[in-house]
Amino acid sequence: MTRIYVDHAATTPMHDDVLDAMLPYLKNDFGNPSSIHQFGRETRAALDEARRSLANHLGAKPSELVFTSGGTEADNMALFGIANAHKSKGRHVITTQVEHHAVLYACEQLEEMGFEVTYLPVNHEGRVTRDILEKHLRDDTILVSMMYGNNEVGTLQPLAEIGDMLQERDIVFHTDAVQAFGIEEVNVKTLGVDLLSISGHKINGPKGIGCLYVKANTKLQPIFYGGSQERNRRAGTENIAAIVGLAKAAEVSYEALAEKRKHLFQLRERLIQGLQEADVSFIVNGDSEHTLPHILNVSFIGVKADAMLMNLDIAGIAASSGSACSAGSLRPSHVLEAMNVGESRVESAIRFSFGFNNTEADVDEIVKQVQAIYQRLLHTNSDNGGDQG
Ligand SMILES: Cc1ncc(COP(=O)(O)O)c(C=O)c1O
Repeated sequence: MTRIYVDHAATTPMHDDVLDAMLPYLKNDFGNPSSIHQFGRETRAALDEARRSLANHLGAKPSELVFTSGGTEADNMALFGIANAHKSKGRHVITTQVEHHAVLYACEQLEEMGFEVTYLPVNHEGRVTRDILEKHLRDDTILVSMMYGNNEVGTLQPLAEIGDMLQERDIVFHTDAVQAFGIEEVNVKTLGVDLLSISGHKINGPKGIGCLYVKANTKLQPIFYGGSQERNRRAGTENIAAIVGLAKAAEVSYEALAEKRKHLFQLRERLIQGLQEADVSFIVNGDSEHTLPHILNVSFIGVKADAMLMNLDIAGIAASSGSACSAGSLRPSHVLEAMNVGESRVESAIRFSFGFNNTEADVDEIVKQVQAIYQRLLHTNSDNGGDQG
């Protein structure tokens, strides 16, 4: 049986070039980049070069990047780092109801610490508007954290429309670009953000590495204390192999990006069309115009997501019901709930997320299997009086 992986929003396979770039730093080049001897100087050079290359992709200065252990740490560093450094100015933070838990749960913790957090509502497509944000801005607002593209439904937020407004009011602007980096042109200057989070394993790089862009002169209180690495913003010996891997993964992602995006959009479109032609009742969740190209979230009406996923897995197809962490626990997706799409769509939602290696043949096989599983489950459902077990 051929196995088809369409869960790239959860994680991606590592690219061969990334592994090749990392191997020397896992074997011979083991020096600590803070050491002044030859061993240290060699890895320092690799660290500097990775930082320069990654900064270039983001339109940032190398000194504005802080390497972290992943997207979660980058998000936490942004929220706690800004809130703690700016609390004398105000204690109000704004985010959205559809953020990844790395932001949402950090915000809940900020509330425990005495900050006030506003969770902006979204429309049925998962989008926040500039007007809604403007209405909630206050004199004591110190930070707005709004994701670039949603990991469950792919909806893009109108970041570029917001940057200027926040800058005028001297409010720090953070975006979680973990799903967008490597797939969208992400330029910190065009976006007008002060902080931006990325992660290695979503872009065919290694797991456990990420980066936070912090605009020059932005006050940020560290979340770790120890050595003076990363210009005193993140203590701890740098994970050189992973940092080199992250920079290489970015380089590979941004090669021929336009063609890759076209390919991802085509796969997404082909799946929608295939399902339309199949005997399946479905609704697409998300925003058809403002979307990441690699994510398609679909509710198969009348068939529960866990039953569909289990049967897809048996057929060799790896998809997901939402973010990886909520997938294991049968909790309904907070993103779909915020979008107010109704219970039947929430409980039947499946996320297909494509990678550069997926093919049209993969999509055709998915359509074939979904149709068969859908019909089978729907009939089992009606035979059992509606209980799917
Ligand atoms: C939007 C978003 N933010 C943050 C994260 C967390 O990133 P990491 O797994 O690198 O900690 C993820 C991962 O699923 C994500 O999709």
